[in-house]
Amino acid sequence: PFKQRLLVVANRLPVSAVRKGDDSWQLEVTVGGLVSALLGITDFEAKWIGWPGVTVHDEVGRKSLTEALAEKRCVPVFLDENLVHLYYNGYCNNILWPLFHYLGLPQEDSLATICSFQSQFEAYKKANQLFADVVKEHYQEGDIVWCHDYHLMFLPKCLKEHNANIKVGWFLHTPFPSSEIYRTMPSRSELLIAVLAADLVGFHTYDYARHFVSACTRILGFEGTPEGVEDQGRLTRVVAFPIGNDSDRFVKAIQHPQVKNHIKEFEERFGGRKVMLGVDRLDMIKGIPQKLLAFEKFLEENPSWQDKVVLVQIAVPTRTDVPEYQKLTCQVHEIVGRINGRFGTLTTVPIHHLDRSFDQHALCALYAITDVALITSLRDGMNLVSYEFVACQASKKGVLILSEFAGAAQSLGAGAILVNPWNVTEVASAISYALNMPSEEREKRHHHNYVHVTTHTSQEWAETFVSELNDTVVEAQLRT
Ligand code: UDP
Ligand code: G6P
Repeated sequence: PFKQRLLVVANRLPVSAVRKGDDSWQLEVTVGGLVSALLGITDFEAKWIGWPGVTVHDEVGRKSLTEALAEKRCVPVFLDENLVHLYYNGYCNNILWPLFHYLGLPQEDSLATICSFQSQFEAYKKANQLFADVVKEHYQEGDIVWCHDYHLMFLPKCLKEHNANIKVGWFLHTPFPSSEIYRTMPSRSELLIAVLAADLVGFHTYDYARHFVSACTRILGFEGTPEGVEDQGRLTRVVAFPIGNDSDRFVKAIQHPQVKNHIKEFEERFGGRKVMLGVDRLDMIKGIPQKLLAFEKFLEENPSWQDKVVLVQIAVPTRTDVPEYQKLTCQVHEIVGRINGRFGTLTTVPIHHLDRSFDQHALCALYAITDVALITSLRDGMNLVSYEFVACQASKKGVLILSEFAGAAQSLGAGAILVNPWNVTEVASAISYALNMPSEEREKRHHHNYVHVTTHTSQEWAETFVSELNDTVVEAQLRT
């Protein structure tokens, strides 16, 4: 059967490389929602193009890594250290990421920020051009090039300038903020124009799509239509495509012997206490301090629960060269220490905090034994952890407490307890409500979400995007 050829371009490859010798490499699975979702796509002939996560200067290294990655259908884009610093640590993760999550632009010493802003922006464009160069080498006529996320907003423009016939889609995995926030961005127009070079632009929710269209109308003066954004007769389609996860993989994993062993081990370990779970990259958008403070308030107000509940918080280190992330790590450790010092006993502590990642088996087992999952993102594109938790809860039917500021609130809102993470009192009472919820209500809520998660998969998401992109290109040809 015909399989559409797809070039998936994202800053991250599904594996990150660690050097073991001159020409030997270890490939580790990358942690993050984008990678998890895209790994669930199988019905395409897909090739990944992205940064391998390391700097490689020598030819031997580059050649051997390229070969190792080829086995995983991955193609590396090599970036030097200085470029990674300015493009990835700087422009992507210190400017775009916080701005898109409503945390504003960095405010350090203003003059230094403005100067470095320019050099970071130049580096960003240069990095995008390097991605485009690799795409060009691998592109064959008829391929779809699907660009992902805020790292690659210039890529559609670079590709279309090279060859206007390439079918180009761009998908944003983060929120797109209100135009009132977006318009503070110094390079606001250039970025929008570069993205609009794509044929189809996709977002997780209708709100993000609407914000993008109003940014284009207000800042560029282009016309917003129900179809997308129009400029002098040229249309860029803008559509909301909520992502899903590979729910089948999680549902099946629960039966795996290794997962079952983990489940047994964890159940013994937590000795009959109720388990609450947080799984996040250690990122300021995840609202980890807010979550911990709410848990503290809950313990304070409910002394009888103090030795009956444990909060397991997995905090995967991420973007550790960016100072804001380093500060957050210290802040979180301080709060955890204080709460454990305050409520711990000689044999137990209320928070089990781990600065590391886990493999899929351990993670599934954790999801499966959890009574209450606690997701307090201050803003979050979608949040796939919430989907994974639901998929693993077929027997336990635990409760999901979910921030109303995660994209997932729009799809799992009916089954979850929605909270405003900034309101510590509200989250503390949600914890109490969840822990005391009668089984009938739990089952009803779980069922609602389970149906959603198992019917909205990442495969379906990708198919919809790709077929919409094909249609868009055909319609555009008919118009001209
Ligand atoms: N994850 C993982 N190992 C861990 C913790 C998390 O593989 O130890 C994965 C998790 O399964 C999920 C992803 O990381 O698929 C996080 O995605 P999400 O959309 O929730 O947030 P993001 O990290 O993209 O902001
Ligand atoms: C989010 C972003 C992804 C990114 C992931 C992990 O999910 O949307 O693009 O890959 O976080 O972050 P990292 O900086 O390690 O790639």
